[in-house]
Amino acid sequence: MSEKSCSTGGKRNEEKLIAGNWKMNGSLAANEALVRALLDGLGGDAGCDVAVCPPSIYLAQVRALLGASERIALGAQDVSQHENGAYTGDVSAAMLRDFGVRYAIVGHSERRQHQAESDTHVAIKVQRALAAGITPIVCVGETLAQREAGETEVIVKRQLAAVIHLNGHCISEIVVAYEPVWAIGTGRTATPEQAQAVHALLRAQLRAATDRADRVRILYGGSMNAANAASLLAQPDIDGGLIGGASLKAPDFLSIIAAAS
Ligand code: 13P
Repeated sequence: MSEKSCSTGGKRNEEKLIAGNWKMNGSLAANEALVRALLDGLGGDAGCDVAVCPPSIYLAQVRALLGASERIALGAQDVSQHENGAYTGDVSAAMLRDFGVRYAIVGHSERRQHQAESDTHVAIKVQRALAAGITPIVCVGETLAQREAGETEVIVKRQLAAVIHLNGHCISEIVVAYEPVWAIGTGRTATPEQAQAVHALLRAQLRAATDRADRVRILYGGSMNAANAASLLAQPDIDGGLIGGASLKAPDFLSIIAAAS
């Protein structure tokens, strides 16, 4: 890809990014209440980048609720690996872009597990997102069995390597999310030291691929909440959070945003 075809805006990423992954939760009424509470709670400047990722059917609703405001960006939870055509149920990167989507989560462990997404699928989806000017949030992470077998490094590096391999110099345009599978929705968070150790490995892998690795934000995800966010976000290579359950409650999500600001 040319430099132009993977540019998502070229903004320097000095601010942390707090993204809410709503997963398959919400309703028209609940989404409206949540977005209004977030906009009210944020006031003028959040002090960090904030995004919400509703289910795709609600992207238009949430886009309208956010209005022209740049305070909260819109994200999708997935993107098709195909450009267009006979792919029933898929949503393309260009369609997401049509609705002002800035970020797309790609390769979440729940999709790797339940939709059998392979490293190759994930790498292609990243390419599709970048070509449409959407920043992919690429999820990597090991299961409990893999951690206990001492395979964490091998697994996360393999997952990221596939994305680097296909996307070349565009790799500095992505966001990475380290989400240990054993910490997702379990209330069991990686300690700041455990998370930092993996983030440092991922940073080193990015440095070997691009001299712009320091601009890549590496988020932590997995039972991040109002109580543990500050200590995780204080780590040198933790550049934000990908929040599941706690992003559905405005006070909790706002506390995490405050911890990142
Ligand atoms: P929880 O914050 O609910 O553990 O979910 C994390 C996650 O999977 C975000 O993508």
